[in-house]
Amino acid sequence: MKIIMLGAPGAGKGTQAKQIAAKFSIPHISTGDIFRANIKENTELGKKAKEYMDQGMLVPDSLTLELIMDRFANADCANGYVLDGFPRTNPQAEALTKALADKGEKIDFAINVEVPDESIVNRMSGRRACLTCGATYHIKYNAPAKENICDTCGEELVLRDDDKPETVLKRLSVYHEQTQPLIDYYKNEGVLREVDGTQDMNKVFDDILAILQ
Ligand code: AP5
Repeated sequence: MKIIMLGAPGAGKGTQAKQIAAKFSIPHISTGDIFRANIKENTELGKKAKEYMDQGMLVPDSLTLELIMDRFANADCANGYVLDGFPRTNPQAEALTKALADKGEKIDFAINVEVPDESIVNRMSGRRACLTCGATYHIKYNAPAKENICDTCGEELVLRDDDKPETVLKRLSVYHEQTQPLIDYYKNEGVLREVDGTQDMNKVFDDILAILQ
């Protein structure tokens, strides 16, 4: 099964994508996580990506497409995947459609997690991320067992540089301009499904399972 998660920054795409991946035994591919891992390791890609990410802007399509096409070549993608944060622009969506069509394949579901802008800034300021294993928490809605320590790998949790309110506002405006149009793109492809992301995260997951099963 090939699934795309759509939605504003902080809508809960990553939270849901991890659960979908575990449930269906498919990889969770987050371009944001891949960029952050490269930044942590100080790779050339990481250095370039950081310049854009810290300003709340998108990393250029050329860099992103090369990275993701390499990732699709991994053997673990044979039975599908859940894409989180990709595609994010029209050229990315078109490149994905073409790469799949060349193999006689297509996306099965594009799930749009809907959360209004007013809730996003509040959510992001409470998010804490583990830059080692990619786990995500919220100080109020999904707190780790031990304050500021990752339940999964024991590393210290951080507020992401791009989760500061001024950067979140920039990311939201970039989202509306460049990524939101993909909702219509996937509606036209007949694969768009919508879920209410303002609900409790377990209820959001139940709604997604009802779509996928
Ligand atoms: P990326 O990491 O993809 O960030 P994003 O899309 O902005 O999404 P987030 O990870 O911020 O949020 P999310 O929707 O996954 O929410 P989460 O589940 O964590 O990208 C970062 C940057 O990388 C981009 O700005 C760009 O520069 C670059 N980039 C990445 N991909 C790119 C691409 N394809 N092209 C170009 N550039 C790219 O949840 C948020 C918080 O809310 C958490 O604390 C969570 O616990 C909490 N929460 C989740 N669900 C609920 C709920 N139902 N109720 C209450 N709290 C909830």
